Amino acid sequence: AAVVPFYGSTQAGITTAQQERLMFASLDVTTTDVQELARMLGRWAAMAARFTAGRPVSDSPVRDEQPPFDTGEAEDLGPHSLTITVGFGPSLFDDRFGLADRMPPELTPFGTIPGDAVMKPGLSDGDLCIQACADDPQVVFHAIRNMVRAARGTAVLRWSQLGFGRASATGAGQVTPRNLFGFKDGTNNIHADDVTAVQEQVFVPAAADAGPTAWMAGGSYLVARKIRMEIESWDTDPLTDQERIFGRTKSSGAPLTGGEEFTPIDFAAQADGKPVIDVASHVRLAAPETNGGARLLRRGYNYTDGQDPDTGKLAAGLFFIAFQRDPQTQFKAIQTRLGRSDALNEYIAHIGGGLWACPPGVSGAGDWFGKGLL
Ligand code: HEM
Repeated sequence: AAVVPFYGSTQAGITTAQQERLMFASLDVTTTDVQELARMLGRWAAMAARFTAGRPVSDSPVRDEQPPFDTGEAEDLGPHSLTITVGFGPSLFDDRFGLADRMPPELTPFGTIPGDAVMKPGLSDGDLCIQACADDPQVVFHAIRNMVRAARGTAVLRWSQLGFGRASATGAGQVTPRNLFGFKDGTNNIHADDVTAVQEQVFVPAAADAGPTAWMAGGSYLVARKIRMEIESWDTDPLTDQERIFGRTKSSGAPLTGGEEFTPIDFAAQADGKPVIDVASHVRLAAPETNGGARLLRRGYNYTDGQDPDTGKLAAGLFFIAFQRDPQTQFKAIQTRLGRSDALNEYIAHIGGGLWACPPGVSGAGDWFGKGLL
């Protein structure tokens, strides 16, 4: 049973080789007592340390007439590379806890980005988030279930999402998986072994002048987007059009300008007086070449919620997750361009999501998520 170390200078679940399963939870804090919030984050860290090692909530014997400490469904499963990543939403910095002056400008809510018109409040935002990833679906469910249980009286679940079939590759050793449109996803991702890109684009550096936001050094910002994919219409679109929309071939993932999957895209290439990589193609609009060098570490999952009761269509898509140092100049800038012009927009809709500041890693027993903030 594979174990990913929980303690470290950065949180696991960011550059960790992507696991097969996700459960993501957004919670709202119900207490106004900042000490109570701190105690809960401490409990979460202790639980995360145990779960990621394949251990239950507690080893103490349960007394009669008492509910078991652990809900039990992961007892024989092992850790399956479980990672638990915790983040703080912008709303945590309102006037409830006196944290307003410690909110980093990077965490400023995006407002409405082009394409955000149908975002549902019930699927968006939240004071806290927990990303649980593992190679077993019951292991991720168990982690979230017990952390939500341990939050009782302090925070409540706001919304959650299950995901399957990692929708990107985060390491050069990982074969690029496919999203539900059938395309390889993660070819030009930031890969964990690209140390320079990880340093420059993913983690917040320690800055001497960071002042009240110094607690985020070693942290990273998580952007999630629940993106519904119009699978039925996509499946009627001719292959050549599907490939034009992404700018890559469906089978090998090679750019339409030739070569194999990892051949660099030639954005300048022309054929019959027109760019080979369409001006509205997803890769052109999302590429660092178009976005002042900005990149993302994408770590999303495919999802399905079954069938849409209103339309009878498959309620499925991409639960997009991206980590970055500055979501204003990275996700927001890229998504503003995509939301305006991406040829893919005909087949997708952003219906939920949020932005969270994931503090640096938990260093050991006695430390907890965001100790430097609270
Ligand atoms: C690239 C799919 C949404 C950012 C790609 C690629 C595919 C893809 C197939 C090409 C392979 C690769 O390099 O990974 C999708 C689908 C989406 C979606 C199906 C929605 C359902 C987004 C969003 C963003 C984004 C919301 C960020 C705002 C990127 C970036 C690249 C990329 C940065 C790499 C571009 C490059 O440098 O070549 N996406 N994507 N994608 N996507 Fe998306």
